[in-house]
Amino acid sequence: MNRTILIAAIATTGLFAAATMPQAANDHIDGDCNLTIPRDDMTNRDAHAVYTCLSKGMTKGYNTGDKRWIPADFVADYREWTAASTLPADPGVHGERFLFTYVNDIGADEYMKYADEDVAMPVGSVIAKESFFVGENGKAKPGPLFLMQKADKGASPRTNDWYYMAVAPNGTPMAPNVFKACNECHEAYADSDYMAYPEEDVRRPAK
Ligand code: HEC
Repeated sequence: MNRTILIAAIATTGLFAAATMPQAANDHIDGDCNLTIPRDDMTNRDAHAVYTCLSKGMTKGYNTGDKRWIPADFVADYREWTAASTLPADPGVHGERFLFTYVNDIGADEYMKYADEDVAMPVGSVIAKESFFVGENGKAKPGPLFLMQKADKGASPRTNDWYYMAVAPNGTPMAPNVFKACNECHEAYADSDYMAYPEEDVRRPAK
């Protein structure tokens, strides 16, 4: 094969783009998704490279086994919803994990106004928040999938009709005391219907 044809062949398969793209972020992680630079030097882009590396394994893990009281379609489908984050970010809540948020069609318009007041998420809204953790030693590992579902009016007055759910990285439904472990913190965002939103610099604007 002559050189021009080879380049054309590579370009059409997309390999050319991959080979010439800046690889800087990926140079900071190894083949097991672990960080090879100090944790304190990690940027959002490095976090994204870790996320890309862990990504397939995360959904596979979350979808393993019976979801029991958690609607299995939320877990199977959330990656097809609208991403409300541009990059995973570490806001220092949810156990110092990096977070990446998706919202279903019913909730997307209201959620992605990122409004601080007069928010009323429609019944049937579901927000899914993936998490992963990068330790001080650079070791990366998936964290739980956190879910909130807006239930019918009056279904759960104590939580403003939000149902909280979480799936462990291995797919097991987690059973925290949601009033203490979830609602006590989320009710502080009462003006925005308990929505806390991603960090401002990683919010994906609505279309
Ligand atoms: C210490 C406070 C705190 C606790 C406890 C907490 N959250 Fe959150 N949660 C937040 C904050 C802050 C955000 C926005 C963070 C971000 O994306 O950067 C958030 C975001 C979310 C979102 C995306 C919707 C939104 O508010 O923007 C879901 C879903 C979620 N949390 C579920 C849960 C579940 C389920 C639990 C319990 C297992 C829980 N959270 C416990 C603070 C908390």
